[in-house]
Amino acid sequence: MKRDNVCSFDSFYSSHPMGFGTQPSKFVVNWIEKNEFTRPPRKALDLGCGNGRNAFFLEQSGFAVVAIDISSQAIMNLRAAAKAAHARQNIAAVCADACSISLPQNEFDIALAYTLIDHIERPLADSLIAKILHSLKPGGHFLVTVYSDNDPSVRSLHNSTASPSSFWIKNPYSRDDLFSAFSNFNIMSHKEIDFEDNNHDYVHRHVMHQIIAQKPAH
Ligand SMILES: C[S@@+](CC[C@H](N)C(=O)[O-])C[C@H]1O[C@@H](n2cnc3c(N)ncnc32)[C@H](O)[C@@H]1O
Repeated sequence: MKRDNVCSFDSFYSSHPMGFGTQPSKFVVNWIEKNEFTRPPRKALDLGCGNGRNAFFLEQSGFAVVAIDISSQAIMNLRAAAKAAHARQNIAAVCADACSISLPQNEFDIALAYTLIDHIERPLADSLIAKILHSLKPGGHFLVTVYSDNDPSVRSLHNSTASPSSFWIKNPYSRDDLFSAFSNFNIMSHKEIDFEDNNHDYVHRHVMHQIIAQKPAH
């Protein structure tokens, strides 16, 4: 990832300590609530974790969580929130580039990349997806959201209607590109969603893919 992007995330998390909100994503909550996990100890990886809103939810749902973000400010905010809540013991927060960190093989029951892979240029993004496949247990799940190439802001990056966060997006996906990128997984579900974003200074729309991909059991 380019240094200017890292700096701009550091500056974003300095001026917005709540990051992209404090509530976990409904995508993650709904999936956890629908599934029963029977293999203790359960381990989760949250890549591009930001201030940890999803990592905290996973930890409260019984997972030992490794939460990784390239922004040192995001990791500082996460650690400060964990300290303030006292009870949170089971999150290892790591400041690192997800593209260069090494991950153990067959380690995690679930991995989450909530709007990360679209921040990374395509050849590196493909290597990251392969690395996550390697680090999931057989049968483990990968929950992913990425900006769609149908997103109105991504489509208008060069004019003034683009949302500020869209400038971070290097790699929006078409449905076909996404299925091709996850061809070594079993695709359990896919949705392209269109929603209103009121997390920034003005309300705007986004179009994103949500995909749940499973590492084959054999
Ligand atoms: C749109 S934010 C999403 C944050 C979080 N997943 C959430 O939903 O609140 C994208 C996050 O990815 C992080 N990021 C971008 N590139 C990264 C990389 N190469 N390695 C690790 N984290 C990265 C950014 O610092 C930022 O926190």
